[in-house]
Amino acid sequence: MDATDVGADLKEILIPADRLQARVTELAAEIDADYAGQDLLLVGVLKGAVMIMADLARAMRSPVEMDWMAVSSYGSGTRSSGVVRILKDLDTDISGKHVLIVEDIVDSGLTLSWLVGNLHSRQPASLRLCVLLRKPGAARMDVDVAYTGFEIANEFVVGYGLDYAERYRNLPFIGTLAPHVYGGEEAPKPAPERVEEGREPGPDA
Ligand code: IMP
Ligand code: MG
Repeated sequence: MDATDVGADLKEILIPADRLQARVTELAAEIDADYAGQDLLLVGVLKGAVMIMADLARAMRSPVEMDWMAVSSYGSGTRSSGVVRILKDLDTDISGKHVLIVEDIVDSGLTLSWLVGNLHSRQPASLRLCVLLRKPGAARMDVDVAYTGFEIANEFVVGYGLDYAERYRNLPFIGTLAPHVYGGEEAPKPAPERVEEGREPGPDA
């Protein structure tokens, strides 16, 4: 899928495919160097992290194991308290393993700080975070991200795994959507507003 396939839905391409690939390759080299000689388990957070996980793992030179988790923050109408539900747990026992969580985006940081707490309690040898995109709101939660792809502004983005209402995940770039896509409503609110007012029904975790 490409920009021409989504036509007028697209407002702007923020990060083109070649920049994404170049940055993911850099991150892979950093991770390779940092974990040299150690076994590493990559934990991808479904569904958004599918693209970064696939590209990152293929760009790495060291063998890695891959496992997946699916989580969901409480939906619309509820105050987002950082309470997260596990939809799919890991298949692997991570105790004593070096674990790197791979995620598409950190916005308020609520999802990732919960996930770090959850996985930490399973006693891995080490636990770090790799995030493709980081929004400014993440600073408030003090989530310690070891590997960040890009810092972006506080706006709603899609593509390369990220969705709006389950669509646009298979765009090869990161972009923003035209207002008509949101049906004349405002684009889903990025943090911190989402944290105070609760989640919008559109995008899932
Ligand atoms: P957080 O808990 O606020 O850090 O954000 C958690 C989840 O919200 C992310 O893992 C994404 O699934 C989703 N999300 C946050 N910002 C965006 C965005 O700009 N586009 C698509 N999904 C987003
Ligand atoms: Mg996500």
